[in-house]
Amino acid sequence: MSAASPEPRAALVQGASRGLGLAFVRQLLERGAHDRVVATAREPERSRELAELHRRHPRVLHLERLDVTDEVSVGRAFESVSRLAPELGLLLNCAGVLHDEKDVQPEKKLESVDPAALRRVFDVNAIGPLLVAKHFLPLLRHDGRAVVANLSARVGSIGDNRLGGWYAYRGSKAAQNMFTRTLAIELARRAPNAICVALHPGTVDTDLSRPFQRRVVPSTPFDPDRAASQLLDVVEGLAPEQSGSFLAWDGSAIPW
Ligand SMILES: NC(=O)c1ccc[n+]([C@@H]2O[C@H](COP(=O)([O-])OP(=O)(O)OC[C@H]3O[C@@H](n4cnc5c(N)ncnc54)[C@H](OP(=O)(O)O)[C@@H]3O)[C@@H](O)[C@H]2O)c1
Repeated sequence: MSAASPEPRAALVQGASRGLGLAFVRQLLERGAHDRVVATAREPERSRELAELHRRHPRVLHLERLDVTDEVSVGRAFESVSRLAPELGLLLNCAGVLHDEKDVQPEKKLESVDPAALRRVFDVNAIGPLLVAKHFLPLLRHDGRAVVANLSARVGSIGDNRLGGWYAYRGSKAAQNMFTRTLAIELARRAPNAICVALHPGTVDTDLSRPFQRRVVPSTPFDPDRAASQLLDVVEGLAPEQSGSFLAWDGSAIPW
C-alpha cells in the first residue's frame, strides 16, 4: 500500500489514549495507508496527545469513546463507527492492564492473589478484545483484507512460562490468546477475508512496563513508535494461513 492510494477501509485502534495504542495511531496517520483512522479510548477527551493528532489530521482521524469493560459502551462505539466507516481493514485491540494506581499490582506470590484484581485484569485484557470483536464483526465482513490484531504478551504463553508470578496478567493474556485462536476459527467461516492474530510487541517503554523494565529485561525497551511500526510491518506482511497464530514483533511464532 502506498501513501498515494490509501486503503478505502478504515483502521481502528482500540485503547489509543497513550502508550502503544497512541503510537499505533501516530504511525497509521504517518503511513497514510488508510483513508480513515478511528482511535477509541474510555475518556478520549483526557488524552492531550490524541487531541493534538486530531487537530493535525481532522479529516482522517476520528475519536470515539469506548470502555472495553462496559458492553453498552462497546455497542455504542460500534453504532457510531459503522455510520462513519462501514468497513474495517484493521482492528487493533491495544487496551491492557498490568497494574493500576489502586488495587492491581502484578503478584509476586500466591498470597498476593486477589479475586477482585484478577477479575479487573481479565475484564480488560481477555474479555475486552472479545467483546470488541463480537460487536464489530459486521465491519469485518467485506470483500477486502481485514486484520484483527490483539495485543498480547509473551508472558501469556503457557509453554514459555519459566519465571512464574504475575498470575492475573499471565492468566488474562493466556485467556485472550485462546479467545484469539477461537475467534480466528470462527472468522474463517463468517469473515473469510479476515486474518486474526495475537501479537507480542516486545518490551516497550510505556506506563505499563516502566516499573518492571529493569527487573524483567536487561536490554533497552523499544520506544512505542518503533514498536508500533514493527508490528504494523508484521500486520502488513500477514498471509491468510497465518490467521490464528501468536507472533512476536519480529514476525517469529511464539509457543502458546
Ligand atoms: N509495554 C509493554 O512492554 C508491553 C509488553 C507486552 C504486551 N503489551 C501489551 O500491549 C498493550 C498496550 O500496552 P501499553 O504498554 O501501551 O500500556 P499503557 O501505556 O499502560 O496503556 C494502556 C492502555 O489501555 C487503556 N485501557 C485500560 N483500561 C481500559 C478500558 N477499560 N477500556 C479502554 N481502554 C482501557 C488505557 O486507557 P486509559 O488512558 O483510559 O487508562 C491505555 O490507553 C497491552 O495490551 C499490553 O498488555 C505491552
